[in-house]
Amino acid sequence: MAFIAPSLLSANFLDLQSDCNMLNKSEADWFHLDVMDGRFVPNISFGPMLIDFFRKATTKTCDVHLMIEEPEKYAEAFKKAGADILTVHIEACTHLHRNIQQIKQLGMQAGVALNPHTSVSLLKDVLKDIDVVCLMSVNPGFGGQSFIPQTLQKIQELKKMIVALGATTKIEIDGGVTLENAPSIIAAGADVLVAGNTVFKSANPTATIAALKAL
Ligand code: DX5
Ligand code: ZN
Repeated sequence: MAFIAPSLLSANFLDLQSDCNMLNKSEADWFHLDVMDGRFVPNISFGPMLIDFFRKATTKTCDVHLMIEEPEKYAEAFKKAGADILTVHIEACTHLHRNIQQIKQLGMQAGVALNPHTSVSLLKDVLKDIDVVCLMSVNPGFGGQSFIPQTLQKIQELKKMIVALGATTKIEIDGGVTLENAPSIIAAGADVLVAGNTVFKSANPTATIAALKAL
């Protein structure tokens, strides 16, 4: 049974309280919060101020996905805002080991995200230090895109690396997850499913979360 992490990027920003209440009562495990800077990705979303509001609206794990350049400049601000998991992109980190250490020293779980073109083999020497690997199954920046099938092979490859190391790192899949493709994503070895449009654009988001959870 996978963890379900609805992405609030697809929520109704004029009524976030209702969407938070819905998620709180649902079987969702984590709140997935997408931070975009308009530099690392061609879109701008929100920053620590909104994370602070989400933190106060839930006791569930706040899983903050930073799609930003120079994440080390903002790690402390996201800790103060209430992030439990802070995920940085490997493509934005020249000194990834240092970024991971910083996140852990601040008292958060460390996540590392990989764009679709980035090989999981690059994680070999840091995998034991990472709590969550977020494999992007779309090019980051927008919700509602189609799942890139090659991701399934990346999941299998990464799972093998984690098992070989005896690590407890979770594999999170982000982008284009649907009720139709989720079974094969879980079968490949995913531990956490992010779902934006699949949850928030469905007729009954609570039931959709329950259906994902039941897979
Ligand atoms: C994309 C974000 C995702 C996005 C997922 O850059 O990182 O978390 O919100 O949305 P869906 O599930 O609609 O692809
Ligand atoms: Zn995300």
